[in-house]
Amino acid sequence: MNPSNFLYIKAIRRQPLERTPIWMMRQAGRYLPEYRALRAKHDFLTMCKTPELAAEVTLQPIRRFGLDAAILFSDILVIPEAMGQTLTFREKEGPRLEAPLRSEADLQNLTLNGLEEKLNYVARAVRLIRSELNGRTPLIGFSGSPFTLATYMVEGKPSKNFRFIKELVFRQPQFLKTVLSILSEAVVRYLQMQIDAGAQAIQIFDTWGGILPPHLFMEFSGKWMSQIVEKLKPGGVPVTLFSKGGIAPFRLLLDSGADVLGVDWMTDIKEAKELARGAVALQGNLDPTALYGSPEIIKEEVRTILETFAGQSGHVFNLGHGILPDIPLDNVYYLVEQVREISSRLQLK
Ligand code: CP3
Repeated sequence: MNPSNFLYIKAIRRQPLERTPIWMMRQAGRYLPEYRALRAKHDFLTMCKTPELAAEVTLQPIRRFGLDAAILFSDILVIPEAMGQTLTFREKEGPRLEAPLRSEADLQNLTLNGLEEKLNYVARAVRLIRSELNGRTPLIGFSGSPFTLATYMVEGKPSKNFRFIKELVFRQPQFLKTVLSILSEAVVRYLQMQIDAGAQAIQIFDTWGGILPPHLFMEFSGKWMSQIVEKLKPGGVPVTLFSKGGIAPFRLLLDSGADVLGVDWMTDIKEAKELARGAVALQGNLDPTALYGSPEIIKEEVRTILETFAGQSGHVFNLGHGILPDIPLDNVYYLVEQVREISSRLQLK
């Protein structure tokens, strides 16, 4: 299919369309029995690094639910790994990066040399997925934002109060900016590689930008993402910026140059829509835990979101953050069906 005919692309371009497209953050993952079956045989990083496995897992949610976009199966932390930090995933603990980056001296152990070669398994996965999708569904490539990558590289593991990265914000801002500038180059090169391999859209996950006070958000997160958007423009693919953290980051990203802003579940979608004034498309924002609710509740939540946009294009339905590993499959089927049914009655112009 000509990419401009995909519902996902039409919604982003705010063109008329027959119904609202839907995909889900973390749609390839443990809530799917077929993912768990494959995962029982291979560890997570092996799955990321084996193009055939990454392609298979990317396609699993598309086969099951016929979602309107596929997202590359990988992880944001493959960049720090390619730069030289050792990455492991521990059961129940999540990711760990050895030798946390805390000072200028630690930078000596990291390099951007050969980044594309080291991450070539991602380019191969993208090409394989494109050929298997065969024009039926668009493929989204992704990266973490420089600040979110820095957060993991500095903390070394998931953190509750972000002591180390925030210490850098307030004690060594210049050093942190050096790190952010290096990571920005890595992200641009990595995303350009994905676009060259066939990614038809890009999403940048800024999971931790929202831990910054709003007056420092642009300086340490937003500004760098905005520069990345600018550098990717010649690639011609739409870019979504998703910062978790409520209305403050959302408001600050309105002028970032992004084609789409992700809306997390803590943000009032009506307020987001009013602020966006049709100048940028929106993606979101069902609370992922609403999927523990009854069908009646799910339907009501979906309706509230869709009615915000009634009669207008420019909305991609998604969750307000990633789907959780124990969400009942029946509720996901129901969600997808309801988004289709309700939005097709709303006539999107
Ligand atoms: O959306 C998709 O389906 C594509 C795949 C994808 C994964 N991670 C697979 C994954 C994407 C887009 C990501 C992004 C990612 N990874 C983010 C940004 C988005 C967000 O959720 O905020 C972050 C912060 C990470 C880092 C990360 N990776 C964490 C904190 C964890 C552990 C938590 C968890 O869910 O286990 C991971 C592991 C991970 N990434 C899994 C998957 C499917 C689970 C690994 C497993 O099978 O054990």
